[in-house]
Amino acid sequence: MIYLKGRSTHKHVPAEPGMSLLELAMKYKVEWGFSCTRGTCARCRCHVSAGMDILSEPNDAEWDRLEPEEIEQGYRLGCQARVEKDGEAIVASRPYF
Ligand code: FES
Repeated sequence: MIYLKGRSTHKHVPAEPGMSLLELAMKYKVEWGFSCTRGTCARCRCHVSAGMDILSEPNDAEWDRLEPEEIEQGYRLGCQARVEKDGEAIVASRPYF
């Protein structure tokens, strides 16, 4: 299960391999900011406080858009970070504005 903390909704959703965090939020109706879905706007930025090991490694779009320090601290782009296997994670929507 992944605990998704959206702007006004917090929900446990299944960790479905292959889905991005943004796709999961949309599927289970957790309010999540986004615009481009291509890794450029960063509106979907989020913080992973647990369970990074069940997610894909940061991809080129995330390295381009986020600071290395942010990635180190657990920030990801929700439209780019994908679930790779079942497990537990906690992810909060954290746009810049
Ligand atoms: S929706 Fe634009 S970077 Fe994810």
